[in-house]
Order: sequence, then structure tokens, then C-alpha cells
Amino acid sequence: MTEATAKQLTPVTPTAATRPVRDLMRIVIVGHVDHGKSTLVGRLFHDTGSLPDGKYEAIKAISEKRGVPFEWAFLMDALQAERDQGITIDTSQIWFKTDARDYTIIDAPGHKEFLKNMITGAAQSDAALLVIDAAEGVKEQSKRHGYLLHLMGVRQVAVAVNKMDLIGYDEKKFAAIESEYRAYLTSIGVTPTFVIPVSAREGDNIVTPSKVMKWYKGPTVVKALDSFTPSAPATESALRLPVQDVYKFDQRRIIAGRIEAGRVSVGDEIIFSPSNKSARVQSIEAWSTIPGATPPQTREAGYSVGITLDEQIFVERGEIASHKEQAPVETDVFRARIFWLGHEPMVLNKTYKLKLGTLEAPVTVQSIERIIDTSDLSNSSAPQVERNQVAEVVLRSRRMLALDAFTDYPSTGRFVLVEKFDIAGGGIISMEGYADQRTLITSRGTNITRVENVITEEARAFRNGHKGGVLWFTGLSGAGKSTLAMALEKRLFEKGYNVYVLDGDNVRHGLNANLSFSPEDRAENIRRVGEVAALFERAGMVAITAFISPYRSDRDRAREAAGTGFHEIYVKADVATCESRDPKGLYAKARSGEIKNFTGISAPYEAPETPELVIDTALTPLDECLDELVSYVEAKFRV
Ligand code: ADX
Repeated sequence: MTEATAKQLTPVTPTAATRPVRDLMRIVIVGHVDHGKSTLVGRLFHDTGSLPDGKYEAIKAISEKRGVPFEWAFLMDALQAERDQGITIDTSQIWFKTDARDYTIIDAPGHKEFLKNMITGAAQSDAALLVIDAAEGVKEQSKRHGYLLHLMGVRQVAVAVNKMDLIGYDEKKFAAIESEYRAYLTSIGVTPTFVIPVSAREGDNIVTPSKVMKWYKGPTVVKALDSFTPSAPATESALRLPVQDVYKFDQRRIIAGRIEAGRVSVGDEIIFSPSNKSARVQSIEAWSTIPGATPPQTREAGYSVGITLDEQIFVERGEIASHKEQAPVETDVFRARIFWLGHEPMVLNKTYKLKLGTLEAPVTVQSIERIIDTSDLSNSSAPQVERNQVAEVVLRSRRMLALDAFTDYPSTGRFVLVEKFDIAGGGIISMEGYADQRTLITSRGTNITRVENVITEEARAFRNGHKGGVLWFTGLSGAGKSTLAMALEKRLFEKGYNVYVLDGDNVRHGLNANLSFSPEDRAENIRRVGEVAALFERAGMVAITAFISPYRSDRDRAREAAGTGFHEIYVKADVATCESRDPKGLYAKARSGEIKNFTGISAPYEAPETPELVIDTALTPLDECLDELVSYVEAKFRV
């Protein structure tokens, strides 16, 4: 290519001078070439006037040479050829512009590279355009492409139902495809903002509203894209400053790190997570400050800084400094989408070293939810993840971690896993189905002093003839928790026990009436009940609790509140069994989408690892379950 032709490319290749003036948005176009993805890209370029000079003629020439009608798809080839020769600035991205702003299209050369780039942070998009084929309808292929968006956590999505010309621009057929595809996308947690009938070949509804599909009242593809918002630059988001090191200079302690997001100023009150210690920023020490010059008062994302605080608090490498109001998530369990690169497969229950920013911590693979083959995006379940596969997994740490969901803060929502000094995988974090546990770490008010009861535990036990304690029933809805709990209460009462059932549905009518079924509210539900049950125990009573209590971390906290008198009882029955019982008709409602976040269907249930007792209601008749429980209590509680 001559220099002159290279120059002609500049209009679509923003330079440092043109870029900051206009908004820039990164979109990923997902779809199969056979569904007209390339044609649509060609149309977008041409109809928005972004096509480099001479390209139209070049495509025409290629088409003629191959003896086919004008083929937009050759534009991709033409641009690809340039990229291969290293002409354009960025090798993986191509650009077009509308009246509103500039766009870069993140090209997906293959699923494997694409997913890898996405997870390692090489490709990040603000929005996605999904192309499906009207003539083909909603087939497996398009579902898999939709799934790709779910994996990436892209929130702004437009769907172009292409090749409307092949189905006679039929409104009814379009409506059927739209509702089927919307339902599928919604079921995997992707909500398309627009579903647009288009013909990329004819140019309908790409830039120009279609004259033949007057029945369609929504925006064109370009209008839809223009209505999306580009993600805010890192400097505009909340502060994330991972602590790299703490240096001692004379009396001062300097906390050093790189600001990954947001900005920090002298005087700001900042909190370190997960230690939850806070202090005010006294000074910002810039490494490059010339002796005698005034140190900076504020610094933003991209800078490495050293800060001093107004109080000497102990903080460590690996913690994240932020402002109090927008602190990172604190959790010991999270969901991740990982790309596995290890020579050895990733195995269930195995522990790997997690590196997240400056943090290093061991994490264990709690579950492998599904595995995605990167060649065809098909998914399956397996106990291990092979090299080059993508998987959705749940990872658990022994201690609390500070992190973020990738979609909120990419830099603190991304991690690598290390096995024997090698990076074995990369991943992005999703907190879907899991709670931020920050608020659950009971922070006690100041100026509070415990008073001891005069009556001792022993005295109560002596009078009652049994110790106080907690029988914590956990299991799916419909597993039989309430039924067993009430029956057990009756049997124990008859035997002279001071016993009372705290039941989920009941407690949610009063004490916990203000709580929903979101992960955070469930966690709060269990925190309160855990504390109440502990009080019952101290009062010398036997508290039987019947709550789904789906999260391990919450149950562990309840155990901690109660102490030695805590007995975790797993009322076991699998989803299929519970669903076949469906005593309240809730499973049916959950399947139809009427109830969201339903445990076992659309929300997680983490079975206990080492419960004191397992009662299998799927295999054992109710009377036998009950007898087993009664003898368990008699053995453990009688004095
Ligand atoms: S928990 O998850 O927070 O422990 P809890 O035991 O209090 O749940 O309440 C569970 C009961 O609430 C179920 O037995 C069911 O009757 C009802 N319920 C309503 N919505 C849901 C839902 N989305 N998931 C689970 N149970 C639900």
C-alpha cells in the first residue's frame, strides 16, 4: 500500500488530536458471518459516511473479480488486510462515526481469542450489538452468541434481526423471533434494550429508517447505539487504591500504591478493606516531586502515589483504599468467569493462589457451574476445566476479601489464578446471587458494655433438665424443614423441653418483614435469626430454626453467634424432589419467571460441608426422620 492510500485511512482512525473532543464508545458486534455480521458492519461504515475513500470501489472490484454481486462482507477482508500490514493504529479495533460520537468496533476474530482478551482485559466494551438471522429464527448458534454477552457481563445490548428481506419484512414473523429471543436472553440474565428488524443488505433500519417496515416504531441500529452511554473513564469512578507497600520514613508511614480508579485528595476520609480501618489523608507524596515544590493536593487514576494518614493505623499490602460511601465488596465467596490456561485442568475443591490487584490469597474451587467450549460456545457440566475452556465457577476464600464486580470496576474485578508459580487462568468477578457481606460484619457501637446475667447457664440447664442450644435446619424450599421442625417441637415439648421454632415464613411476617430475597437481604435475615437463636440458647431454650439459609458464610456466622450449642442439620432433598412436591406452588412460579431469585432455580444453594446431622427426606419417611431427630436431641441436650 502506498503512503497516499494509508493517509486516506486517517478519517476513521482517530488520532490523539481528534479523539478527546468527541465521545468514544466501544461496541462489540457478536454474531455469525452467515447471519450477515460483516454485511452489517459494511453498511454501518458506508451509511454513516465513515468508509475510507476508495474502499467502496475496492469492494466493488473484489466482488466483480469473484463474479458475485456487490458484497459488503469484503469490507471486513479489506480492513483485515490493512491490519495485517499494520497500517491502522490499533490492531484489533476498527472505527466508525455517527453524528453523536465515534465508535470502535471490537472485532471478535474467534471466540477463543476474544474471550481470552475480554477476561484478561485486552478487550472491554461498553455495549454490544448482537446479529441474528431472521430467516433462520432463533437457533442454537444465536443462543450461544447471546451467552457470550452474559459471560462478558455487557449490560447495554441491541439485537439486530437481520435478513428481514428474506422473510418478506413480515411483522408477525419478526414478533415471534423477538419474543422467543428476548425470553432466552432474559433467562440468562441479559436484557436487550432494543430488538430491531433490519436488512443489512438493503440498508433497512441500519442508519435509515426502513420504508418497507413502517410497522416498526423503534430506533434504527445507529440510533439505538447512540442512545447507549459509554462507561465513565476510570478517573470519574469511585476511588480504588490497592495498597502495594507500606514504607516507614522517619516518623511517617507512607502507604504506596497505584490509583486504579477515581481520585484521592488531601483531607479525604478513606477506608481500607477488608480490615475496615479508616483515617484521613494527611498528604500525598508524589515520587517525582522536586525538592521544595508543593506536593499535590489531589491525584487520579493512573498515578502511583504514596499517602500519609492523620492516624497511625495498621494496613497491609493487598488491602484496597476507597472512600467510605463507595467501598469495594467484602466477601469470602464469589462467582467468576474464568479462562483456563493451565497445563493441568482446574479441579473442583482444589486450592489456587488468587492474585487480585496487589492481593494474594488462596481460594478453593467450590463449584464448577458450567463449562463453555470456546470453539463452538457449547456448554456442559464437568468436574474439571480443561486448558482453553471457559467456565463459570464459584470460588471461596478462608478469609474476607475486598473486591468488585467486573462490570462495576474492571481493575478490581479481574484476577488471575496461579498454580505452582505459573498463571493458570484469568477471570472476571460477578457477584450475581452472592451478597456483599460488608454490612454483616457486625460493627458494634462504641460506649457499650456487656452486663452479666446473674443466673448461670448451669442453673438454667439444671432447672430445665436440658441444655440450651440451636438446631439449625437448612435446606431447599420444600425439603421438609418446617414440617419436621414443627413435629419435632411437639415431640420435644411433650418430653418436657423448653422449645420453640423460628420459621422463615413466620419470622418474615414480623421481625424480618422488611427483607426481600436478594442475596443481601437473605444474609441479613440469617444474621438476625442467628442472633435471636443465640439469645434463645442463652435463655436455656432449644431453638429450632427452619430457614433455607442458602449461604455457607451466613450459617457460619450464626454458628459463631451461638457457640458450642449450635447444631447444623441439613434437611436434604434435591431440587427435582422439592419441585415435585412444590407444596406452595412456588417452584412453578419460579420456572415461569414470576418469582425471581428462587433458591435452587435462579439463586444458589450452598449445601453444608460438615453438618452435625443429615436428614435425607428424599429417601427416608417422615416418622423415621423425626425419630432420628428426637434421639439426636436427647443424646446431645439432656442433662
Ligand atoms: S432464606 O433464604 O432467607 O433463608 P427463608 O427461609 O427466610 O429464606 O424463606 C423461605 C420461604 O420464603 C420459602 O419457603 C418460600 O415459602 C418463600 N419464598 C418466597 N420467595 C422466595 C424465593 N425467591 N426463594 C426462596 N423462597 C422464597
